[in-house]
Amino acid sequence: ITVYVPRDASALSLGAEGVAKAIASEAAKRNADVRVVRNGSRGLYWLEPMVEVETPDGRVAYGPVQANDVAGLFDADLLHAGKHKLSLGPTEDIPWLKSQQRLTFVRVGIVDPRSLDDYRAHGGYRGLDAALKMEPAAIVQAVADSGLRGRGGAAFPAGIKWKTCLDASADQKYIVCNADEGDSGTFADRMIMEGDPFVLIEGMTIAGLAVGATHGYIYLRVEYPHAQRALEAAIGAAQAAGYLGDNLGGSGKTFHLEVRMAAGAYICGEETSLLESLEGKRGQVRFKPPLPAIQGLFGKPTVINNVITLATVPIILDRGAAFYRDFGTGRSRGTLPIQLAGNIKRPGLVERAFGVTLRELIEGYGGGTASGRPVRAVQVGGPLGAYIPVSRLDTPIDYEAFAAISGMVGHGGVVVFDDTVDMAAQARFAMEFCAIESCGKCTPCRVGSTRGVEVIDRMVAGSIAERERNEVLLRDLCQTMLAGSLCALGGMAPYPVLSALDHFSEDFAGTPQRAA
Ligand code: NAI
Ligand code: SF4
Repeated sequence: ITVYVPRDASALSLGAEGVAKAIASEAAKRNADVRVVRNGSRGLYWLEPMVEVETPDGRVAYGPVQANDVAGLFDADLLHAGKHKLSLGPTEDIPWLKSQQRLTFVRVGIVDPRSLDDYRAHGGYRGLDAALKMEPAAIVQAVADSGLRGRGGAAFPAGIKWKTCLDASADQKYIVCNADEGDSGTFADRMIMEGDPFVLIEGMTIAGLAVGATHGYIYLRVEYPHAQRALEAAIGAAQAAGYLGDNLGGSGKTFHLEVRMAAGAYICGEETSLLESLEGKRGQVRFKPPLPAIQGLFGKPTVINNVITLATVPIILDRGAAFYRDFGTGRSRGTLPIQLAGNIKRPGLVERAFGVTLRELIEGYGGGTASGRPVRAVQVGGPLGAYIPVSRLDTPIDYEAFAAISGMVGHGGVVVFDDTVDMAAQARFAMEFCAIESCGKCTPCRVGSTRGVEVIDRMVAGSIAERERNEVLLRDLCQTMLAGSLCALGGMAPYPVLSALDHFSEDFAGTPQRAA
């Protein structure tokens, strides 16, 4: 009997390792024939560690399980789907999961991330098989036709980026995966690398065939050791099976792939400082142009995409551009893995077609705040994303709809705050974060972020006249940073600040006045 216990880092942090060991030892004690598979997480983080048992009618789930629950679960006949107070029923019937549209995450939590056979048994490498029969331009066209846009946050059309690289002539080109996932409240990249690493490898290989690149690098966030182990094991298995190397699937085509650990700085997730860091230099932002697609890693044409963008390519090549494009709304096609975090009752990963509203995500999937208090603000798109007030919770997840309310979808991180949040402190945090993480290359960001912290401090501490005077200064400073910063760090730090000022101005009145 197969029992699944996640090896996902969040599940591990909640005790999954102890649970896996307890299941193995309890099974040995009872002479039960049990195979423990360490899968990825299904993304229902409030139920982790979630244990699943394979039955003839599909998997049944239990959670959240702790090591000291295991003997009781065996007494309740866990191995034959016995009822227990931790029973969750058939996994696929859990409404939170059933209502999702998992395309990119279709195998996460289902397959054994270390098994290439399992990957192939669940549709893996069908995208590459199709790509190997296509001309490079046709692969690029399929990605363009799918409507896939960059899931790192900038939402630039992937097909146009690939076409720019395909059209650049050079003796060497590269594929670089930006896996330096640094946004607060985001974990989709980590989850897929830990739970289905082959899909990223397959996506990068297809990208290589599409633009004529024979070498790829995964620039992996240094705080992701579990993802590193999963990727390295998967790269080894893909090489051994001929899915990476000099004769891909017997085609005579070449693609090599390596993992490089990142430098531990937020700015190294910005594509040009990432390339500097990958070249062994200090992670400092480069001027654009030239675009990386024309002059990227070591000066060669480079496709640099986020993990989720690349991991979505195999299903597009397998099922066709029209299949993917059929999901979504407006110019936001396909699905987005949305990460629910912060003060929320049911945190985790929800993959849905674009168009789902923030309210459905927070109230429906998330179940409201963990504290039980009313939601006051939601930050979408990482530490540089705008704070959205409850009056705008009906905004759909759609790049253009968010831009229309001066927000951004970004990498799909949703962080919830209840009514105890101090929005002036949150605005100060955005400026302070920018000051700490600034690469120092341009003045609006390097100096402006520090001045921003000081101005917010003066607003909160001062009289009403002082507050009004400093608000003018702060808004002016934000405009300078928005218009004059070289990259998105300085260029977007004003978003959370301005949204806090626009929607939660009472919090800047200082504690005594607010209490009054
Ligand atoms: P950008 O808009 O400058 O560029 C988007 C991408 O398109 C880049 O890769 C750029 O090289 C490429 N590009 C633009 N024109 C092109 C053309 N004609 N041909 C080929 N390629 C072209 O945005 P940027 O600065 O790369 O990213 C900013 C975004 O990063 C923000 O919106 C934010 O959401 C996101 N972000 C994500 C984080 C994360 O942890 N995932 C952390 C911080 C920011
Ligand atoms: Fe560096 Fe900030 Fe300028 Fe970006 S905006 S280049 S992080 S100083």
